[in-house]
Amino acid sequence: MHLLDVDDLTTDELTAVLDRAAEIKAQPEAESDLLDQQTLGMIFEKPSTRTRVSFETGMTQLGGHAIFLGPDDIHLGHGEPVKDTARALARYVDFVMARVYDHEDVEGLAEYSDVPVINALTDDAHPCQTLADLLTVREKFDGFDDASVAWVGDGNNVCQSFVLGAAMVGLDLTVATPEGYEVDDDVLARADDLGRAPETTHDPEAAVAGADVVYTDVFVSMGEEDEREAKLAEFDGFQVTTDLLGDRTLMHCLPAHRGEEVTDDAIESENAVVWDQAENRLHAQKGLLAWLAAQA
Ligand code: CP
Ligand code: NVA
Repeated sequence: MHLLDVDDLTTDELTAVLDRAAEIKAQPEAESDLLDQQTLGMIFEKPSTRTRVSFETGMTQLGGHAIFLGPDDIHLGHGEPVKDTARALARYVDFVMARVYDHEDVEGLAEYSDVPVINALTDDAHPCQTLADLLTVREKFDGFDDASVAWVGDGNNVCQSFVLGAAMVGLDLTVATPEGYEVDDDVLARADDLGRAPETTHDPEAAVAGADVVYTDVFVSMGEEDEREAKLAEFDGFQVTTDLLGDRTLMHCLPAHRGEEVTDDAIESENAVVWDQAENRLHAQKGLLAWLAAQA
């Protein structure tokens, strides 16, 4: 079992992971030996604060161990093919977690790995973020039935996994992106197959009307630095200000680029739940690791 995107899980499995996360969050000490002697290999081609620290801390808290493998630490990216890295790592570790640019690289790791591969962000998907996001919405709104989310910004990795997760749990979602930055058709088709493709628009005001939550992400993602000036111009009008936010809840996967996709006063306001969301990365991933271990 690999988690390359949220819809690698069935809806029942997703609910089981979220339930396990909530259970461990409520009583973390009860699981302090769960992954005794187990190791997570963590491949990072891109920087990370939350993902690296929450996975490593989560493994420690579950009684296991994590190894950080940065871009200059291993042969991947320096001549060794993905399939060789995958087969070698699987002889040592119990789980592989990978943050890479090209989604095909996590697919390659998964194809050749005998242990679970967890996608920790590619250019196309960020399922671990979605697990934490769904846990956060479920906590704040006591389930998914009474929450409506407006995504405002780029329709790329974080948004795409959230679209799939929202479809799976029946969460009402509208996605507002500039033209040319929409969610991929393939992701919308998968969400439709899961029973709930989001509404889509190019109008942020229309998206937030009737929403309880506004969710945004950086306009310039990791690896897009050369597109910075062009993207900032194309995303004009999509900044989440206190005016656009109103009394709605603000979500952001972080890191935030204040003054670009969100204003400082919006993210510092009482409406923002971004620190709870960041904390839930830890609990959600512990739930995922515990659930994966139970499948083995
Ligand atoms: N949200 C998220 O994945 O944060 P990091 O890039 O800090 O890991
Ligand atoms: N879209 C952002 C998410 C960071 C967690 C990026 O890819 O850089």
